[in-house]
Amino acid sequence: MRRLTRADLDALPSYVPGRTVPGAIKLASNEVPYGPLPGVIEAITEAAAGIHRYPDMGVVALREALAQRHGVDPDRIATGCGSVALAEHLVRVACLPGDEVVYAWRSFEAYPIIVATTAATSVRVPNTPEHGHDLPAMAVAVSERTRLVFVCNPNNPTGTAVRAAELDAFLDAVPDDVLVVIDEAYREFVTDPAVPDGLERYGERPNVVVLRTLSKAWGLAGLRIGFLVAQPAVAAAVRKVVTPFSTSGAAQAAALAALRAGDEVARRAALVVSERERVLTALRKLVPDVPESQANFVWLPLGERAVDFVAACERERVIVRAFPGDGVRVTIGTPEENDQFLAAAEGALG
Ligand SMILES: Cc1ncc(COP(=O)(O)O)c(C=O)c1O
Repeated sequence: MRRLTRADLDALPSYVPGRTVPGAIKLASNEVPYGPLPGVIEAITEAAAGIHRYPDMGVVALREALAQRHGVDPDRIATGCGSVALAEHLVRVACLPGDEVVYAWRSFEAYPIIVATTAATSVRVPNTPEHGHDLPAMAVAVSERTRLVFVCNPNNPTGTAVRAAELDAFLDAVPDDVLVVIDEAYREFVTDPAVPDGLERYGERPNVVVLRTLSKAWGLAGLRIGFLVAQPAVAAAVRKVVTPFSTSGAAQAAALAALRAGDEVARRAALVVSERERVLTALRKLVPDVPESQANFVWLPLGERAVDFVAACERERVIVRAFPGDGVRVTIGTPEENDQFLAAAEGALG
């Protein structure tokens, strides 16, 4: 009998969400721990009265607000059900079956799933020994069949970031007819001035797309909203394939309210950054080769010890994220949560 679903998907690993365990601290999904931003709950409550109606499919007010904030025309913006959906839409508008998508590995675990479900082919380029993108090798991996490249900056799950000079050289090397998607889900936590703001530095390049999310620093992970900035034709193509009405009315209202709380976002990001540096310093005494992080999480390259370490943390009621055989990603929480994690890490490794 013929199968009901594609056989090739059997080999595909499922997306693993960070686990939530009642009573335990969750440092597994790169969320910011400080709750919704001021004004957001009120905006959602007001929007709730209209949920029997479809939302504005053009997302006009929010695209205008984002356009204003970033100094671009609204026709260059598309929103989606999280930036992960936009990453999928981008692959769909760029690739036909068999076309290639290049990305670093290890990187955001949704990329292989997105590429496979689009029937495109993944070309994974191993990270450097320092756990960052190997951009020269990625440039070499771009072939006649490549239609899209993901550059995850900072990289999930390793936290490393590429600098402007490296990215300039990479973009110069990639042909103009290949889309380069700079995924900046963690941009708000970047403190190194040598790490470029993709929009400011590359926004005018015709083949560059910058992907951002409101899930992390902006505190809207549960409402599912992200956006991209691209050249108008690319943004229009994405808006064409987006699942209709997938940016809900509540998400649009919440995002507009969140965007008015930019100062608070900056204050919270600074708290996260200062804790990140404290956690990194403490961890480096336990694990050699913990890479620098420009994101709201840190990476422990524990290799085969990753799974045991995560189990030991869980026994201490701290949930962190294992990448079996490779490492562990730990999201930065409140100072108390980080202390609890560090105590668990000390117990497991000290
Ligand atoms: C690099 C990267 N890109 C995109 C996303 C997707 O975020 P969202 O779909 O919540 O916008 C994530 C989430 O973990 C991420 O780490």
